[in-house]
Formats: sequence, C-alpha cells, structure tokens
Amino acid sequence: MIRLETKYTKRIITDNILKSIYQPRINRIVRRLKRKSAVGVEMTGWIKYVQNYDKKELKDMLRVAREWKKKQVKKVIVIGIGGSYLGIKAGMNMLRSDFNNKGIQVFFAHNMNNNYLLELLNSVGREQFGIIVISKSGTTLEPAIAFNLFYKRLIRNVGRAKANQLVVTVTDKVKGNFAKASKEYGWAKFIIPSNIGGRYSALTPAGMFLFILLGFNYRAIIKGAKDASKHLINPDLDKNDAFRYACYRNYFRTFHRYAIENFVVYDPGLSMISEVWKQLFGESEGKDHKALYPSTSLFTTDLHSMGQYLQEGTRNFFETTLYIKRPLRDVRLSMISDNLKYLNGKKLSYINEIAMLSTVHAHYEDGKTKNLIIYVDKQDAYHFGYLYMWLCFAAMASAYLLRLNPFDQPGVEVYKQRIANILKNK
Ligand code: PA5
Repeated sequence: MIRLETKYTKRIITDNILKSIYQPRINRIVRRLKRKSAVGVEMTGWIKYVQNYDKKELKDMLRVAREWKKKQVKKVIVIGIGGSYLGIKAGMNMLRSDFNNKGIQVFFAHNMNNNYLLELLNSVGREQFGIIVISKSGTTLEPAIAFNLFYKRLIRNVGRAKANQLVVTVTDKVKGNFAKASKEYGWAKFIIPSNIGGRYSALTPAGMFLFILLGFNYRAIIKGAKDASKHLINPDLDKNDAFRYACYRNYFRTFHRYAIENFVVYDPGLSMISEVWKQLFGESEGKDHKALYPSTSLFTTDLHSMGQYLQEGTRNFFETTLYIKRPLRDVRLSMISDNLKYLNGKKLSYINEIAMLSTVHAHYEDGKTKNLIIYVDKQDAYHFGYLYMWLCFAAMASAYLLRLNPFDQPGVEVYKQRIANILKNK
C-alpha cells in the first residue's frame, strides 16, 4: 500500500529515537480525537465519511450521470477553487489512463482571470455542456463569477429549461448561494457535509460525481479510502506511516530548524497530487508564524532548472519524494545510437527509478540533504483513495504536533475581506 522509507535521514535521526520522542504526543492526539476533545474535532467528518457513505446520494449521483450520458453531454466545465478542485483534478491526472473518460472532455475553471475565463468559454463552444460547480461555502468569489459566465453561456446555447438540467451543484446542505439557487432553479444538488472542510472533501460528492461521470472505478477509490481511514487512526508509530511522516516533519522543523520541505514527484501526472499536498500542509498548519514552507518539484524536469540549487544551495530544507512502484504504463527501450545501446531492453520505469534513487543518493550523500520517500504500491483507483486519506491524516497530525487547529484557515479571510471592501465601496 503505502510505506515511508526513512533510511536517508539516518545520520541525524532513526525511527527508534523518533518514536521515543513522539509516541506519547501521538497517543495524546489520537486520544483527544477519540474523546472528541481535540481542537477542531467538529471538522473531522472526513475520517469516517467513507465508512458510512450515503447510499441514497450515491444512487442519485449515478442517476444524474446516466441522464447526462443519455443527453450525450460531451463537454463538462468543473468550477471550484482550492480544496473544491485540487483533489478532484489530482485524481483525474493520477489515474489518467485508468478510467474510460466516456468521451467527455473536462475543463476546470479555478481562477477568475479575464483572459483565462474567456478562453475557457471559447473552449466549451456554442453547443450544450455540463456545469459542475463545487463550493462548500457557496460564497467564494471566484466560482461565483465563473459560474455566472458559464451559466449564461449555457442558457444562450440551449435555452433556460435545458440549461437547468445540465447544472450540478456540490455545496453545503442549506447555506450559501448555490444551495438557495439550486432550489429555485431545480439544479441537481449534492452535499458536502458541514463537518468536512474543503481540502479534506475530495472523496465526498465534490469529487465523486465527476469520478462517476467519467467512469472511474469509484468503488475502488472508496475502498482504498475506507481501508486508510481504519488503518491510519492507529497511534502506534510502528504501524502508522502517515503519523510517522508527520513526526519526521516536526522533528526536522523543531530540532534542525529547517524552513522548507521540498516535495518531489517523477510523473507530471502526479503534479496535482503535489498541489493537494501543498494545500493540505500549507493551509492546515501555516498559522501563528509556524510550519514548514511546502515547496514542490517535478523531477527529472526540475533537476535541469533547480537541480543545482537543491544540490549545493542554502541547506535549510529537507526533501520528501512520492514514488509509485507500479505505474500506469511502461515500455522497453530500443535505442538507435550505438553509444546508448546500454539502455536496450530496459524498462522506462526502471530508468526513472534509477534516476530517483541516484538523485536521493546525490542529495543525501553529497548534498547533505535529508530525504524521505513515500512509496505507493500501485497507480490505481484504490491507491488514489488510500493516498488522499494518507495525506489528510498526515496533515492533521502535523498541525496538531504544532498545537494548531488543522481545519480552519483564518488567514485566507484577510485578503478576501480587503477585496470585498473595495468592490463594495466600503
Ligand atoms: O480547504 C479549504 O477550505 C479551501 O481551500 C476552500 O476549499 C476554498 O477556499 C474554496 O472554498 P469553497 O469551497 O467554500 O468555495
């Protein structure tokens, strides 16, 4: 499933020493979660959500997906920002050749830039298209603006009555603009439960409706997430690598004063998983002037731009590599040039694995950078569900180790308030 390799940190810390420092603290965190006395515990609905999935809502999602199929919807615009799109796009990209797509082209609107939105409007064209708008609060400015542009365009393309059948909202049960408008206009509506925050919500209908529509093996995603939710509540650091990862992060920051963690992937299709990781850790624990700065790299691409810095620049960071052992696709090489014949017969995945291990060794042995490796067994739906939950558990524990609430984001409101003040002429 998922295993944390820690041997490239041995010069400063071992699993046993780490355990002696952190096991009592992790025990306390889990005890408080179970007793419901942990800070922010009212937002931990995501832990058990996958275990008690609302079967009726699942059936409704399957029904609406079938209706869209009957209507031959070939283009879908997914509108949402932050936690309301990152995990969903991460799933699509990680599993890109593992679902059949049902001939549907998917566009994401996650920004309110004028060039960007107008270009996207051109891409959906003058025919029918589906709109999935995801906003837990139903009050965020970016999805509100994008939704209005696309909804008006859809009405122009197909008329109001048909347009209303092509809108799906995923939002709070009662609060916010989309909940109200869904009632008024008869849009299909699915719920993000009030006890689950945006960045922890990708396996609620926020992601699940699109996954179903595109023909993902959604049952395997749920199974992976369900297994993770059972395994990863275990406080024993010998058995819970998500918590062990949180402890290593805390150790590097507290005892070695590292400022940055560089999270590395080797597949462009995993770059959105890096974005999920960045948001989960950045938003859950970037508070009270604490926490590591979450930085991301795509190797081997970035080795040709940032490789020099990472090898010999300021030593104020450590690295974590996410590596999937069994990829979606593979090929054996056969080279034309004589001087490259040594590659013949070798699998491309093997060459990537050698690149990964060589880089870890170069950074650790020569560059004196500590490295963790998160090994995921397989690039499939089950492991996407498991990995997403694994990252959620790790982010939660990491924030608790810093004595922070993992589930709020008060800092995000500051710039939002300023935008609103100016636009509303206050
Ligand atoms: O994790 C979070 O809570 C945020 O990233 C939100 O998902 C993001 O701000 C979008 O909010 P909403 O879904 O309410 O539009």
